[in-house]
Amino acid sequence: MSTEYGNIPEETIDAVLTQHDIVETVGRHVHLTKQGKYMKGLCPFHSEKTPSFTVTPDRQIFYCYGCGMGGNAIKFRMEIEGLSFPEAVKIMAEEAHIPFQSTSGKPESPQDRETGRLLQAYEWSEKFYHFLLKNTEHGRPALEYLRGRGIGDKMIDQFGIGFAPDRWDTLVQFLDKRSFDLTEMEKGGLISAKQNGEGYVDRFRGRIMFPIANRSGKTIAFAGRILGEGHPKYVNSPESRLFNKSRVLYNFGQARSAIRKQRQAVLFEGYGDVIAAWEAGVHNGVATMGTSLTEQHAAMIKTTADEVLVCYDGDNAGQNAALKSIPILEQAGLQVKIAMLPPGVDPDDYIRSNGGDRFIRQVVEDAASTTKFRLANLRRGHRLTEESGRVDYARAALPVIAALTSPTEREVYLRELSSEVDVSFDSLKQDCNLIRQEQNRPAPGQGDPGPVYSDSKQGGRGGQYGGRGRDRGDYANKGGYGKKGNFGGGGGNYGNAEEDFFPQERRARPNRDLLPAYQTAERRLLFLMLQDRQASDYVEQRLGNEFNLPEHAAISAYLYAFYAQDREPDSSRFISSLQDEKLEKAVSAIAMMEGPREWNEQVLDDCIREVRKVPQLRGIERKREDMMRAEKDGDFLLAAQIASEIIALERQ
Ligand code: GTP
Ligand code: MN
Repeated sequence: MSTEYGNIPEETIDAVLTQHDIVETVGRHVHLTKQGKYMKGLCPFHSEKTPSFTVTPDRQIFYCYGCGMGGNAIKFRMEIEGLSFPEAVKIMAEEAHIPFQSTSGKPESPQDRETGRLLQAYEWSEKFYHFLLKNTEHGRPALEYLRGRGIGDKMIDQFGIGFAPDRWDTLVQFLDKRSFDLTEMEKGGLISAKQNGEGYVDRFRGRIMFPIANRSGKTIAFAGRILGEGHPKYVNSPESRLFNKSRVLYNFGQARSAIRKQRQAVLFEGYGDVIAAWEAGVHNGVATMGTSLTEQHAAMIKTTADEVLVCYDGDNAGQNAALKSIPILEQAGLQVKIAMLPPGVDPDDYIRSNGGDRFIRQVVEDAASTTKFRLANLRRGHRLTEESGRVDYARAALPVIAALTSPTEREVYLRELSSEVDVSFDSLKQDCNLIRQEQNRPAPGQGDPGPVYSDSKQGGRGGQYGGRGRDRGDYANKGGYGKKGNFGGGGGNYGNAEEDFFPQERRARPNRDLLPAYQTAERRLLFLMLQDRQASDYVEQRLGNEFNLPEHAAISAYLYAFYAQDREPDSSRFISSLQDEKLEKAVSAIAMMEGPREWNEQVLDDCIREVRKVPQLRGIERKREDMMRAEKDGDFLLAAQIASEIIALERQ
């Protein structure tokens, strides 16, 4: 095993973990109360009312029994602040005045260095523009414009808003004085080359500057808005090595922890909407960069949320964009709700004229299901006062309703439709059933809007579960225990056991008694091995990596390697050496186990025997199948021979 992680020397990680106590680190975000050896509090990573978030000072780790998040102090900072591992280590090292050099050994590539310089230039430019807005004459009109729109100092600071004066070379000079290479800055989109090719000019002039950050909060682009009316309203940074519009969501970095907590993101169209909503207390808002929503955006949201509330403008363009976003989000496995704003009103306007509380109560909390939204959208296109309008509307609405899988939901919408179009419920239901038969035929016609979106909805949800299923399949392959249910305490427990191990958000805490004995034994062994090197040595010699669960086998392998480097037992440091989120969570869960820490050889031997039973039972099972096959083939001699082998194995 290498002794550096992502180019960071192990000593740096050790020093960071020594200087940042887990209780102090977590305590800045979570109110912790002492409960015996543990500290408990409300989990910052999911919503809960009773504390299942646990911190163990003596092992320097945290673990949430509710959502399965766990790890050491570095991991906590990564998750709560949306940082990558190297970023978190760097920040924590700086805070503790630990010298940080990211490159021990491998030299940084020229591209990495250029990216680093560009990020630095963006950071300084952002601060410079912000300063000009707040503290200089140049910025005054912009400041007044913003205030007039209800954006005060607090939001200006929160979103790092700035101002680029209406002059040719303010930023060019600023960067030049600080010895940035202007060619590089031009390539990175901060400034523009002059027409005649000689020298550079500012790209943004006389504009309010909204910094655009990547998912870890570093500024990688700007959107510059004109003061008041005019064209173009916005000038954006060009796409660069740092900035790709289809992968960036405005405010994602700041919104991440709120999104994770609520498992929901609110998707807006404009920067102004995100900012107004933030001030109203909606901290899980993000926006695309004026371009349409992409698969990548949806995937980005899916990493932290289960649901998206689409909150676009109440005009036709906004509603059409909302309609288009539904399949993209559903295909990513997200549930979708649509906020219904009065026609012609955008969220920003709504908040300014009705206040944040009403926005939350009447728009956010009252958002419509996608079906309701689609029907409302169709209804607008028809004149329900005329018979032909009603018939057309019913024709358009029926496929949408027919595509719903829940009979209850279908009934609710059909009843509503029945009163709207003045047609009996029974007739509508008959039509609906006919359409359902059509829709359920194999190879449905593509482009037929009804079935397509409803299918995508199902497909989306299915995909989510499918994902988990796939994971499970993987373990099964690696572990080779394909024949569930034929041994031990019944296969029914297997699903539970794995979910228990990697608990998913919002899943009730499973009953540990349901774990098959061999899994409990494996966990017990790892628990003891994590705390005592001798226990680990003992198990290594007798069991090696032959744990039945692949994750346990992997953890044991890492643990043997960890001790082989002459390191002391230390769950928190061990976790840092894993660099694998699933394993980190698994180790946190095991290290949090209760029960005696004392061990003797007898205790270990008992566990090892339990673990070893599984492959033996599996062997017996296989032999039994062989025997049955032999009997079927009429080869009774072979069958008898196998039977005696089975008896011998069972004696063991
Ligand atoms: P305000 O008029 O200040 O409320 O701006 P807004 O951010 O609400 O903008 P609007 O609702 O008009 O447009 C929504 C989004 O589309 C903006 O946030 C931008 O991302 C994008 N957009 C609008 N106009 C332009 C433009 O002229 N150029 C570019 N590149 N993007 C634009
Ligand atoms: Mn707006």
